[in-house]
Amino acid sequence: MKSFYLTTPIYYVNDAPHIGHAYTTVAGDVLTRWHRQRGESVWFLTGTDEHGQKVMRTAQENGVPPQEWADKLVENAWKPNWQALNIANDDFIRTTEPRHMERVQKFLTSLKDAGFIYEGNYEGPYCVGCEEFKLPGDLIDSDGAKLCPIHSKPVEDVKETNWFFKLSAFAQPLIDHYKSNPEACQPESARNEVLAFLEGGVTDLSISRSTFDWGIPVPWDTNQVVYVWFDALLNYATAVGLTDDPESEGGKKFAQTWPADVHLVGKDILRFHAVIWPAMLMAAGLAVPKKVFAHGWLLVGGEKMSKSKLTGIAPSDITDHFGVDAFRYYFLRAIPFGTDGSFSWEDMSARYTSELANDFGNLASRLAAMVEKYCGGVLPAVAHDESLSSALKECVDKADTAIAALDFQGGINTIMDYCKRVNGYVTSTEPWILAKDPANQRAVEDILYNTAESLRALSVLLHPVMPATTEILWESLGANDSLGAIGAQKISEIARWGQLPAGAAITKTPVLFPRLEVKE
Ligand code: MSP
Repeated sequence: MKSFYLTTPIYYVNDAPHIGHAYTTVAGDVLTRWHRQRGESVWFLTGTDEHGQKVMRTAQENGVPPQEWADKLVENAWKPNWQALNIANDDFIRTTEPRHMERVQKFLTSLKDAGFIYEGNYEGPYCVGCEEFKLPGDLIDSDGAKLCPIHSKPVEDVKETNWFFKLSAFAQPLIDHYKSNPEACQPESARNEVLAFLEGGVTDLSISRSTFDWGIPVPWDTNQVVYVWFDALLNYATAVGLTDDPESEGGKKFAQTWPADVHLVGKDILRFHAVIWPAMLMAAGLAVPKKVFAHGWLLVGGEKMSKSKLTGIAPSDITDHFGVDAFRYYFLRAIPFGTDGSFSWEDMSARYTSELANDFGNLASRLAAMVEKYCGGVLPAVAHDESLSSALKECVDKADTAIAALDFQGGINTIMDYCKRVNGYVTSTEPWILAKDPANQRAVEDILYNTAESLRALSVLLHPVMPATTEILWESLGANDSLGAIGAQKISEIARWGQLPAGAAITKTPVLFPRLEVKE
């Protein structure tokens, strides 16, 4: 069975992760967890981009060899960061690993043998921050200096004899591809940008560098190293066995995963993914990715948040205060995926309190308290509220469609609207008033059962977004014993009403979203 294969960009190890990096990876984690709960076979890859001048110079500035620098950052910063954010990636690729380097060399040799690589002279500006050969029109003029518009730093002049890839040969095939497969580059604004770029004319690409040696040696010319982007883009395929014999384990993995279903990227690196990468694959006669999705930037002071501009915020700055699950929830809930958004401490506090603590957390604690008080902590007989159960059906369908289309905000809104509706149901039926008269015991029990069943559905729906919190809730509903692990619950089964059995032990949870400490 073909796996749903999703990748994040591989991140430069010149520095530790900030919330911009976490934004992409959390989105990937939520989407892959959702697909797993659809019952699909899933492969989720992330990793690190370790070659090139940017990493090499950072290592030099810190007085350590680049490999040592990269090892330290991967082990002390990147991997622990993903673990702390509860990222369930299936593999982690580093571009300095032999499995990657060997396959890159094999791939490159095959492109040369096929006539797509030739020797030439490169002359032009280069931004080490972007690791990109720039066109003069890309730059901004500042008192005579030419600056990269993303890094606001001067570009460097490069003049080298290099190996070139015949990128220009793929402009028309790519235009045809994006015109006939609109879903292959999303959102629409990203596809339009890529089409305009392709239609503006594409030149061949220098794919090697000769003035430093931190990279993968060009197999037939070891005085040169492979251009870092050419090396990095290949990670998506080398990690799953590119160039391996089809009968080998790697070859079988490749058949099972390739082409990638979604490459998630920030809009800053769209062209690399939607132009260079598919052209490389076309040249090798391989299938191109099904979708490249470019999301927007997290902004600080109206500009892309970045460590190089000293505006980087570490994920732990936020999770220490709000917790990991609120962090995972907030960015996807607050910013339409594909659009830029500003991080604001106030907005996050407001949503935390109203949506997570009040709407969701309180519903869970109210239910546990009432089941304890009115039913001795034991779930009463199965009941059925038609209006709640049909709203749930609609919610599951809408959320599934939205999230599968990477509309995380739309999906989460739908789920939280259902949560509001359940709160409304409890508030309007007033079980605490009914309970004053023992003749109403059955009515009270029905309300509590319907509320518990709604919370069962909400925990499964929100599990991909907030895995740890929903597991606590799941446990408190006694659902592990009756229904099995929360991660094994299928999206298609969520709306089947009446799954929690009568007699299940409902226990009080610790407060799911505690009141925030006042921040000094
Ligand atoms: N190493 C390359 C990618 C190679 S992929 C074959 C690279 N790395 S990076 O460390 O600079 O990270 C880039 C990615 O991090 C962006 O594409 C985006 O996904 C994410 N973000 C970095 N800063 C960001 C924001 N301020 N806002 C949102 N996402 C950001 O480029």
